[in-house]
Amino acid sequence: MMDAITCLISRRSIREYTAEKLTETDIENVVEMAQMASCWENTQPIRYVAILDEDLKNRIADEAAKKYPWNRENIHAAPALVILCCIKGLSGYEPDGKPSTKKGTHWQSFDAGVASAHFCLAATALGLGTLIMGRYEEDKIKEILDLPENYDVSALIAIGHPEVIPAANERKPLSEVLCFK
Ligand SMILES: Cc1cc2nc3c(=O)[nH]c(=O)nc-3n(C[C@H](O)[C@H](O)[C@H](O)COP(=O)(O)O)c2cc1C
Repeated sequence: MMDAITCLISRRSIREYTAEKLTETDIENVVEMAQMASCWENTQPIRYVAILDEDLKNRIADEAAKKYPWNRENIHAAPALVILCCIKGLSGYEPDGKPSTKKGTHWQSFDAGVASAHFCLAATALGLGTLIMGRYEEDKIKEILDLPENYDVSALIAIGHPEVIPAANERKPLSEVLCFK
């Protein structure tokens, strides 16, 4: 079993996958771990819509990412695609619907980001690769998959067995990203 530090250091965005298909169990294993992510008042607002069907996945690529050819290719290249959604009105809101802070919808994206990180790290721990994608046509995805109106499509995550694991992209020096006061 991969230790946590190795997992954190070795995770990469994977854009080339082997042809090996994923099973529903593969996805369930990753989502079960991603569900352990922290979230706003344990509202658990994240929903994972997993697409293993090749034709449906390719339809998403061709119709919802046609304006972003590189993501269209990324989706075609992966054996599976997960649509990470956040139910609106939970993260950052009181039970009566009033915003809890001045940041409004901000905490929905925050919860989606925390969940995405867990998802990608869980996949890494299981020997899978992932790619988070932020450029897509949300309305098209909701239409094709008939998603509920209160779902915000937070990100697309391609997932599969990595064919090529690239070297780490350079990171900014610690002195630029960290300060002590
Ligand atoms: C919110 C977010 C959106 C992203 N959108 C895209 C995207 O649309 N297409 C893509 O190829 N990569 C996308 N990426 C991947 C980043 O380019 C990648 O994480 C970054 O270059 C660092 O590389 P690494 O993940 O291998 O460490 C996205 C990543 C995040 C977190």
